[in-house]
Amino acid sequence: MKRTIIRSTGKAIPSRLVTNDDLAEIMDTSDEWIRQRTGIEQRYWIPEGVEMGASDLGLEASKIALERAGWKPEDLDFIIFATLSPDITFPGSGCLLQHKLGLKSTPALDVRQQCTGFLYSLATADSYIKSGLANKILIVGAEVHSTGLDKSTRGRDVTVIFGDGAGACCVEGVETDEDAGVLASVLHADGGGAEALMVELPASRLPDRLPLDAINNTARHYPVMNGSFVFKQALRKLPEVTKEILTKTGVPIDKIDMFFPHQANLRINQAYQQLMKIDEKKVFNNIQKYGNTTAASIPIALDEAMEKNLVGKKGDTIFLFGFGAGFTWGGILYRFM
Ligand code: UT7
Repeated sequence: MKRTIIRSTGKAIPSRLVTNDDLAEIMDTSDEWIRQRTGIEQRYWIPEGVEMGASDLGLEASKIALERAGWKPEDLDFIIFATLSPDITFPGSGCLLQHKLGLKSTPALDVRQQCTGFLYSLATADSYIKSGLANKILIVGAEVHSTGLDKSTRGRDVTVIFGDGAGACCVEGVETDEDAGVLASVLHADGGGAEALMVELPASRLPDRLPLDAINNTARHYPVMNGSFVFKQALRKLPEVTKEILTKTGVPIDKIDMFFPHQANLRINQAYQQLMKIDEKKVFNNIQKYGNTTAASIPIALDEAMEKNLVGKKGDTIFLFGFGAGFTWGGILYRFM
């Protein structure tokens, strides 16, 4: 049977370190508030004044993943690019990355599922592989948030949580009898939650999609979030999706070696861990260093854990899962072979 396996990972973290104290210099916030409410200590943003889009960070992460897989860009059958901060409105960052990789006709797909973008992408790659449509796929999650944040006190609840970054994965279909690779995926969405976490402008639904008055006088081109509502929804849906995947696969929770939650808020992940009665050491968190990098957070976490040899041994079983804008949520159970 054909199984989808992760051949390699890579990540790109931009160079500009932004501490909580740095943010406190430009808006009314504090290191204490940010640490207490989110666990975040710092994040990285792209350098000031340079043109650098999601595909540029994605390219850096992709080159590392490709090299580790021993693949040339020409070996790829397909590229899937997850981002909520595309380089330009259209075409998608996947096409831009494809060109930057020197490719001429390899298909590229953008996924606009925000915090669960990587999960939707991996589930899509798994389906493409199992259906025979592609066999070697590059998946990228990349975000440049910093050029689109409200850096005044008005935007402090959202701005302090976001970091820039990219993660990439090379995945491949292999014929095997082993119960390994992507064991199961579960994806969900509820568009009823769209307004709880969104960026409205530019908006095709408006007679003028980019009204200058709105940009000058309102925050409608910046992300807005009903933080406590999103927090509570996340804590409801993450356990639900965990139970769903356990039922679907028949794998008991204590056979999962490492949990990789989306890095939205350390408090969400800690509450999840306590609720599910999981050993704290089994829940991977790095939001303290990078902030919330949205579609990039899970592949960056996976890359870091693999670099540290925390996971990656034959038989290691990991759970990748998350909740975010859309609302969207989901989980993927994966076993290394
Ligand atoms: O990745 C996508 C999914 N996103 C998430 O899962 C995020 C979920 N939500 C959260 O992480 C949290 O709701 C936040 C970290 C965004 C906010 O934390 P909170 O504990 O829910 O705070 P709050 O929004 O209820 O605000 C509490 C107070 C307010 O002041 P008052 O009204 O009590 O006087 C805010 O104005 O904290 C104030 N506040 C801040 N103060 C200092 C909000 N942001 C800040 C800030 N610094 N950055």
